[in-house]
Amino acid sequence: MQPSPPPEHRRVIRFVTFLALSLLAFSCWALVNSRINNAILIADADKTPLLAGDDDDRHNTGGDHPAPIPVAVPSSSDLMADAVRMGNPVVREMSLAGAAGGGGDGSEGSCDAENAQLRVYLYDLPPEFHFGMLGWDGKEAWPDVRDAGAVPHYPGGLNLQHSVAYWLTLDILSSTLPHSPDGGGGMSRPCVAVRVTNASLADVFFVPFFASLSYNRHSKLRGRDRVSRNRILQAELVRYLMRQEEWRRWGGKDHLVVPHHPNSMMQARRKLSAAMYVLSDFGRYPPDVANLKKDVIAPYMHVVRSLGDDESPAFGQRPVLAYFQGAIHRKDGGKVRQKLYQLLKDEKDVHFTYGSVRQNGIRRATKGMASSKFCLNIAGDTPSSNRLFDAIVSHCVPVIISDEIELPFEDVLDYSEFCVFVRASDAVRQGSLLRILRGVTRDQWTTMWRRLKEVAHHFEYQYPSKPDDAVQMIWGAVARKMHSLKLQLHKTGRYQRTHSDS
Ligand SMILES: *[C@@H]1O[C@H](CO)[C@@H](O)[C@H](O)[C@H]1NC(C)=O
Repeated sequence: MQPSPPPEHRRVIRFVTFLALSLLAFSCWALVNSRINNAILIADADKTPLLAGDDDDRHNTGGDHPAPIPVAVPSSSDLMADAVRMGNPVVREMSLAGAAGGGGDGSEGSCDAENAQLRVYLYDLPPEFHFGMLGWDGKEAWPDVRDAGAVPHYPGGLNLQHSVAYWLTLDILSSTLPHSPDGGGGMSRPCVAVRVTNASLADVFFVPFFASLSYNRHSKLRGRDRVSRNRILQAELVRYLMRQEEWRRWGGKDHLVVPHHPNSMMQARRKLSAAMYVLSDFGRYPPDVANLKKDVIAPYMHVVRSLGDDESPAFGQRPVLAYFQGAIHRKDGGKVRQKLYQLLKDEKDVHFTYGSVRQNGIRRATKGMASSKFCLNIAGDTPSSNRLFDAIVSHCVPVIISDEIELPFEDVLDYSEFCVFVRASDAVRQGSLLRILRGVTRDQWTTMWRRLKEVAHHFEYQYPSKPDDAVQMIWGAVARKMHSLKLQLHKTGRYQRTHSDS
């Protein structure tokens, strides 16, 4: 039998306990709150939705920190209010995107490889494979990326829509600069991916070949050339990689290559097909060369200007019901376009514009999409196109009529929250597309429009990169893919090390 403590002791104990619990609860709240405010996608691995989930998981917010003992979060109403204000999908996104684990929330401190989701080894390819194509002199191994205004510029116009490799390379180069959250002196950048120079510490080997630009710029034969420069570069790249010990180790499976333009790396794509590709879609790839299991789909860089949140016209300020921009006559897969054109061309609130955004003027396209409720994305000669991303940043609800389309980051984004999907066979039935679109109520449309405004930043390419923009979303997607790949590689390698070393 324990004698119970005297009353004044009991009061002190009760007070101290209360104080400790309050402090703990407050720090939980502050931590969660700061993460939401920064709209950071990194949260703890495989936990059910932060906040919105059941009570047991509510406190698992920190990457590597042990979960605090369960305590009552301050009435939890503030938390729930935040979660509701931000929209639950954001909360869900946070926990899903964190599935790669690790820290690296990029809010402060320096980017150290230890806490990054993805440690990236960057091959020092000769400049002709990357910045040399941008007119950079190549006196050093890499351009100086400290001043964002002074980095080599990518050619503008339609080249830009496939500039993914350029943004990824700039970002990984900047990952070892001194980190400063407010930009003063150092580089402010999220720390999802960090460059390592020791290959044995790398999760992934990045091949910085600007394949899309090589296709755009160097496909034509010049002078007495018998082979195009684009082909020569690909052949050299294959030779270079096959010589690398790192490539040979897993046959290239942990390598990252970016042939984003559907026609880029035509000659090398099969030889390097073990690698993880960053692609716009699988339209021109046989399934054994590229597939969703090993590869990552990345957005096109949009060409129209992004609308700010407060300049985005609402339902009543968008007089056009449906907007389509593009060629009507396409090679394969584009028959749906012609049929739809025949069905819709006489409707007064449907707007068809021919040709590319560029021919028609980017400003006109920006205005057209911003004054439309729905923007049609109809399969053309490839399942995807930059039109979808132009629609997203115009907050024009995309209507996707492309059965084979693959969408970027679909493991963390639920596109049905901000897009309307119509099967091609349904869309071409007389009157059915318009019936579907007119059937979307003002409230339903507004919900999708709000969600579009929340997700639009995931589709921005920029340097320096910002939290959760397209560059960071790609690194996150690569990190998630690497986890299952590593499991598979380590499993197949169980007996290899001892057998070859002994
Ligand atoms: C690279 O990392 C490995 C593993 O941590 C370590 O053993 C090795 O010494 C490192 N090499 C260099 C050159 O730092």
